[in-house]
Amino acid sequence: MLELRDMRASYGKVEVLQDVSLDVREGEIVGLLGRNGVGKTTTLKAILGLVRKSGGGVRFDGRDIAAMAPHKIPGCGIGYVPQGRGIFPNLSVEENLFIGLHGAPDAEIADYIFERFPRLAERRGQNGGTLSGGEQQQLAIARCLAMRPKLILLDEPTEGIMPILVQEIRKEILEINATGVSILLVEQNLSTAFKICKRVYLMEKGVVVRESTTDELKRQPQLVHRYLGMAA
Ligand SMILES: Nc1ncnc2c1ncn2[C@@H]1O[C@H](COP(=O)(O)OP(=O)(O)OP(=O)(O)O)[C@@H](O)[C@H]1O
Ligand SMILES: [Mg+2]
Repeated sequence: MLELRDMRASYGKVEVLQDVSLDVREGEIVGLLGRNGVGKTTTLKAILGLVRKSGGGVRFDGRDIAAMAPHKIPGCGIGYVPQGRGIFPNLSVEENLFIGLHGAPDAEIADYIFERFPRLAERRGQNGGTLSGGEQQQLAIARCLAMRPKLILLDEPTEGIMPILVQEIRKEILEINATGVSILLVEQNLSTAFKICKRVYLMEKGVVVRESTTDELKRQPQLVHRYLGMAA
């Protein structure tokens, strides 16, 4: 459903992505893994049109979206949960949740979200900035769901979150996927990636260098060490 071919992107004169090719198929959770600064976040932003692409193709549901205006991308069914969450601290949970919608949410989507995230339901009038890191992450995921995406680009959802909530967030990601939403997951937390992705891409400076099933990667600790700099 998402196809990136030889995608390139730069910040000013500095080319940060040189050759990014990957696919997310309908119903999959696919991981994009790599060390700090290799261009994972930039890859997501390039898909969304938030950084300038200098070449290559981006197709979604068979449609060329490489040159599409960024504000039209959510309407195609691509949702984004940014690294660092992007919660508005002085807006309430409820205001944060539905900020991307035109007007009030329909009851169906509001009920669905509050059922799926009871912590947010309990805190719906509270300011976003007063939530814990894990709750803010849940809010960022829920806000994305309110737009009814077919594919979610999820950037390091378990970064800096306490272990008990990491488990909860992993479970939620799997449940969201089970409703038919595909996910491209950027992760540095290897155990999260191993638990929820069946397939992963490994990235080195600006380039996707390998594709592997998660099972295959688990059997090749030298690859994990080489590309991710950690023990499997
Ligand atoms: N707005 C920007 N202007 C200039 N350079 C940038 C900008 N944003 C990122 N970069 C550079 O682009 C490279 C890739 O950054 P990116 O944020 O995509 O990495 P990442 O793989 O997501 O890293 P991390 O795991 O730390 O989040 C880095 O060298 C970074 O310094
Ligand atoms: Mg990043």
